[in-house]
Amino acid sequence: MAAEKMTTATTTTSLFEKYPLLLAPMAGISDEVFRSLCLEQGASLGYTEMVSAKGLSYSNAKTRDLIKLAPGEKQVAVQIFGHESETMAKEAYGIQEYLGAALAYIDINMGCPARKIVRKGDGCALMCDPPLAADIISAVSRAVDVPVTVKFRRGYHLGEETALDFAKRAQEAGASGVAIHGRFAEQYYRGQADWGIIATIKRALTIPVIGNGDVKTGADARAMKEETSCDAVMIGRGAQGNPWIFASAKAALEKSEIPAAPSIEERLFMACRHAALLSALGGRNIVRMRKHAMFYVAGIPRATKARGAINACVTYEDFEKVFTDLLQDAQQDAQQDAQQGSHHDSPQDSHQGS
Ligand SMILES: Cc1cc2nc3c(=O)[nH]c(=O)nc-3n(C[C@H](O)[C@H](O)[C@H](O)COP(=O)(O)O)c2cc1C
Repeated sequence: MAAEKMTTATTTTSLFEKYPLLLAPMAGISDEVFRSLCLEQGASLGYTEMVSAKGLSYSNAKTRDLIKLAPGEKQVAVQIFGHESETMAKEAYGIQEYLGAALAYIDINMGCPARKIVRKGDGCALMCDPPLAADIISAVSRAVDVPVTVKFRRGYHLGEETALDFAKRAQEAGASGVAIHGRFAEQYYRGQADWGIIATIKRALTIPVIGNGDVKTGADARAMKEETSCDAVMIGRGAQGNPWIFASAKAALEKSEIPAAPSIEERLFMACRHAALLSALGGRNIVRMRKHAMFYVAGIPRATKARGAINACVTYEDFEKVFTDLLQDAQQDAQQDAQQGSHHDSPQDSHQGS
C-alpha cells in the first residue's frame, strides 16, 4: 500500500512538472474557447467548468458539452461536483471512457461556496462532512486510472481553519493531489486569500499541492510558488479578459523577461477573436461573450458607456461593433493626446519651460 501511494505521488509530481501553470475551473468562463486562448498564451493545462455528476448520469447533453475539448487541446482536467459517491465514481469512469488519453485528471469540487450548490450538500458543504468527502475521494479514485485531485478552501466557517486535517484525510482516502484556495467558504471572494495555509499543507502532505487565490500578475505567480513551495499555480479571475497573464506567469516562473502588457488594440482584437470562436460554436454560445467582454474592456476609455451595449449583444456582429467603436474612440483619443503632446513639446513650450 505504501509503495503504491509512493508511486502515485511520484507520478502526479511529474504531472505537475509538466503542468505547473493551471487555468482554474470557472463556471460560465472556462469553456473550451477560453481554455484554448489561455493555453495559447502559456497556461499549461485548463480545467473544465464544474460538471454535475448527476447531470452526466441523466445524459444531459448540455452537461456533456462541458467536457468537450478545444481543437488542438491535448489534455484537460475535468472537475466534477456532487455528493453521491457511487454516482460520482460511475460518472468519473464515464468521463475517462469518453476522453481517453485527453483526460489529464479528474478533480472533485469541494470548494464551491455558492448557495445553490452547498444547499444540496455539494461543493464546499463536503468540508463539513469529512467522512463523506473521504468516501467520495476513495470511490472516484478506485473507479478511474487517472489521478484524482480535490479542490477545497481554507475551511467552511469564517475563522475555522479545517483545511489541513481535510487535506490529510484526502491524501489518506487516495487523492493524488489537492488544490487549495486560501479563503473560507463564508468569505466567498471577499478579503485576501491566505497563502500560509497552502505552505502548511504542502509541508504536511506527500502528494502534490496546487496553490490558488489572488494571483493577479505574473509576479504573483512566482511569489506564490516561492512562498508556499506549491507544485503548481492555479489562476482564476486574473485570467478573465486577460489570457496574457499566463505569458507573464510563465516568464516569471521561468525567471525570464516578463512580456509587456497588451495594448488596447491587442485587447480588443483578442476580444473579437474570442467572440468569433464562441459564435462558431453555434446556438446561444455567443451570449457567453457578454461576461468576457466586460473584462476585456475594463479600464479602456469609455468602457463604462459600452457596458449597456455589451449586455444587449446577441450576435458576433454586435460584439464586433462594440469593440470596433471602442478601438476608434481610443485611437482618436491617442491622436488628440499626441497632437496636444507635440504642441506642448514645441520649441516655444520648451523655451517657456526653461
Ligand atoms: C466566475 C467564477 C466561477 C468559478 N467556478 C468555479 C468552479 O466551477 N469550480 C471551482 O472549483 N471553482 C470555481 N471558481 C473558483 C476559482 O476556481 C478559484 O478558486 C477562485 O476564483 C480563486 O482564485 P483566483 O483568485 O485566481 O480567482 C470560480 C470562480 C469564479 C470567479
